[in-house]
Amino acid sequence: MSQLAHEVALALTGSGSPSPGPEARQLVAHVLGIDVSVLMTVDDVTDEQRARVEELVARRAAGEPLQHLTGVAYFRYEELAVGPGVFIPRPETEEMVGWALGQLAARPAGSRRVVELCAGSGAITAAISSELGGCDLHAVELSADAWPYLERNLAGRSVDLRLGDMADAFRDLDGTVDLVIANPPYIPTGHRAFLPTDVVEHDPELALFSGADGLDAIRTVAAVARRLLCAGGLVVTEHDESHAAGVRAVLASAGLSEAATHPDLAGRDRFTSAVIGWDA
Ligand SMILES: C[S@@+](CC[C@H](N)C(=O)[O-])C[C@H]1O[C@@H](n2cnc3c(N)ncnc32)[C@H](O)[C@@H]1O
Repeated sequence: MSQLAHEVALALTGSGSPSPGPEARQLVAHVLGIDVSVLMTVDDVTDEQRARVEELVARRAAGEPLQHLTGVAYFRYEELAVGPGVFIPRPETEEMVGWALGQLAARPAGSRRVVELCAGSGAITAAISSELGGCDLHAVELSADAWPYLERNLAGRSVDLRLGDMADAFRDLDGTVDLVIANPPYIPTGHRAFLPTDVVEHDPELALFSGADGLDAIRTVAAVARRLLCAGGLVVTEHDESHAAGVRAVLASAGLSEAATHPDLAGRDRFTSAVIGWDA
């Protein structure tokens, strides 16, 4: 099978794929219905399988995300169902989740009530649910197109899921939440023309854009966090690397303190946290 994966990798290289080798192995393994780790143990493919691989390579070369072709996205230790209508989770978000897990782990079980705003595929909540025990997990998503993926990815994990606008969500939890976490839309609407075509064409509009300065959804995240958090509770939100100062100002003006921006492994300012003081 190394020969077919090699041919696919060459075809993807010519079409500008950023990682042709791994993508080729995932596409071929997907068509054969096997795990990538056993790809090299398969000797032959049928004509139908080869034709299917060629069809997927053509779609990938035309700009469809690999994750839409295989129906799967990987996030930390999770394998998530994705497809058209739901945002494909990105590696940048994994670091914010790692930070949040560290904060939650430092709290006693029983003080780990978490609300995720803008849940999309459920990647963040799924990772928290797998990696730390004793959490009471809640998540909200507005998009009816994303909802089936969220339900599927969090099935059997005892997560309270709600379909609706985060602005009005979880009023029953006001003042009781230990951590509010969000990867909201944050691209200024005027930046559409600067985005890669595959992002504009294949990620949902609602997941990307958020007003003229890109901060509309983060203003809502701040206001909702202010309402939901208990004394000493934390909010953390992902944002564009150029928005760190603006996000800290938004959090402060919502009545949250100690706003701090955290760099990713490349040193880019990608998420900011704040707390609600004991006297707030
Ligand atoms: C950038 S995506 C992030 C999805 C997921 N949390 C992740 O990290 O992969 C933002 C998500 O926010 C959702 N969204 C946008 N506005 C919302 C709102 N007012 N209330 C709830 N969800 C919203 C979008 O539909 C989209 O699924």
